[in-house]
Amino acid sequence: MCGIIGYVGPREAEPILVEGLRRLEYRGYDSAGVATLTGKKMHLRKKAGRVADLSKFLKDSPAPGTVGISHTRWATHGAATDTNAHPHIGGPNTVAVVHNGVIENYSTLKKQLIDQGVEFHSQTDTEVISHLIAQKLEETDDLVESVRQVLTMLKGTYGLAVVSPKNPEMIVGARLGSPLVIGVGENENFLASDPTALIGCTQRVVYLKDHQLCVITDTDFHIYDEDHEKVSVAVQNIDWDTGDASKGDYEHHMLKEIFEQPEALENALRGRLVDADNTALFGGLNLTNRQLRRAERLILTACGTSYHAGLVGEYLFEEYARMPVEVEYASEFRYRNPPIDQHTICIAITQSGETADTLAALRESKRKGHPTLAICNVVGSTIAREADGGVYLHAGPEVGVASTKAFTSQVTTLAMLALFFGRLRHLSSLQGAKMIEDLRALPDAVRQALKCNDEVKRIAEKYHGVSNMLFMGRQYMYPVALEGALKLKEISYIHAEGYPAAEMKHGPIALVDEETPSIFLTPRGSVFDKVMSNLEEVKARRGPIIAIASEGDARAADYVASKADEVIFVPDVPEYLQPVITSIPLQLLAYHVALLRGCDVDKPRNLAKSVTVE
Ligand code: G6P
Repeated sequence: MCGIIGYVGPREAEPILVEGLRRLEYRGYDSAGVATLTGKKMHLRKKAGRVADLSKFLKDSPAPGTVGISHTRWATHGAATDTNAHPHIGGPNTVAVVHNGVIENYSTLKKQLIDQGVEFHSQTDTEVISHLIAQKLEETDDLVESVRQVLTMLKGTYGLAVVSPKNPEMIVGARLGSPLVIGVGENENFLASDPTALIGCTQRVVYLKDHQLCVITDTDFHIYDEDHEKVSVAVQNIDWDTGDASKGDYEHHMLKEIFEQPEALENALRGRLVDADNTALFGGLNLTNRQLRRAERLILTACGTSYHAGLVGEYLFEEYARMPVEVEYASEFRYRNPPIDQHTICIAITQSGETADTLAALRESKRKGHPTLAICNVVGSTIAREADGGVYLHAGPEVGVASTKAFTSQVTTLAMLALFFGRLRHLSSLQGAKMIEDLRALPDAVRQALKCNDEVKRIAEKYHGVSNMLFMGRQYMYPVALEGALKLKEISYIHAEGYPAAEMKHGPIALVDEETPSIFLTPRGSVFDKVMSNLEEVKARRGPIIAIASEGDARAADYVASKADEVIFVPDVPEYLQPVITSIPLQLLAYHVALLRGCDVDKPRNLAKSVTVE
């Protein structure tokens, strides 16, 4: 995690750095800092808290200079304090370092440095890098050479930016495992952890590869490989639409993103449903139909909410493509060594395209020779670039830490992929045509579902004081139960558990009491009666029940309404698309509950939007 931006050019660096940090805050928001240079003088300003806190501090105590680096932090080593904030200094203001990643051998290096009499100021792993570079600078008087030598001593991952008054005309960067991109301007250059930070600065970028080191000055930049040989690189134009990342008329990004879902789904579906063949069409799979037809198994790997989308994908692929699917947490998959058949395609699902574990899982699959695909939202992200092929969600920027529109877009995209794989196998043309019809109707159904907002708000007012909540569903509704619980806990800090409704008898039912509401997902479908039995079991133990049911379902109207304390009706859609529709009230419930509890909905404590460390 952590966001980095550096600037070297003719303009004052501080405002450019602060604006870049604001854009990168989704990577972490524990503390922020800048270091700028005016010739041989270094100006260090850092603060625990948000970028806004740093910005306030800079008003009283500006950081002058036209060269600088900056950082917004998600704490790994050491608490979120002023001293642990980056940049970290080595020597008597000899060097300033910002770092994204984890230095795994930092404690050994720290001990060696302490033995040599070096004084440490923070608990971070990063500070060892600053002291080591400062030491090397004493010997070499050359920042580039010093950084190069220190990199050989580090174990772990890093995206680094370094400045020093000894070479005040440059920023030195290096990458291993944590992304870095050079922004190429006119007589000015930038270095950032991702292009988002460069919006409004430049559209010309160069992505660094692992083991590369770069040197940027105002008029030039150079990239070196591991052997310190100069590498020639092509400058790419970022021609994607960065979309609207503002809050618009909404109080929070999350609420805006919830209400953007009909358009997000329309964008995901656009141009991908083909009536002529009754299938779905994807431009970027980069595999022939023959290769795809030969696939006998799929592995879906992801983290967080994207993992829950993968679980829905498992049901979709089994039902419509008749393919065996395994869904793996990327953080587990990367270290397992399961026997994987050669006809297996690995699909990484990720909103950001930067999640460290998902990237590692993708790389491991590639290394073993499996074709890899990415279902990704952020165009040009590391995973999107490294996968053999993939599908973009086109959901537009998702800023709220709690993922909403990315989830429903992922599920919709997986449904299209299931249609595509199904049509390569047993699915008839008529079945394909029906799925196309269902998918086309989905954005409007989501529009209708969003009308439950006031009702959900009323329910949130009634229950926002509880300490625990259970979410129950079966089949397609089981991953939705997991996702509903995750949404609630991540932004409201209420303990919540999602469970397959029947499994409840094996544990969670012990939690049921008058103070613990259970959300039951009971849309019309093959397991309605079964879930109703589970609902009765909770009712018998006096647990309050909030049911999500299908509009126009006569049984639900009578039965659910007589048993549940609250019923939220959502449009009736085919069972395989219900995960999209039933997620809407759960997203809204989490939002209103969190708001009523006074939580920071868009930036919940301890979390970050993009998790770029293991
Ligand atoms: C973080 C975010 C989640 C997200 C997960 C995976 O935990 O807070 O919202 O689902 O990372 O992120 P990805 O970008 O790979 O989907």
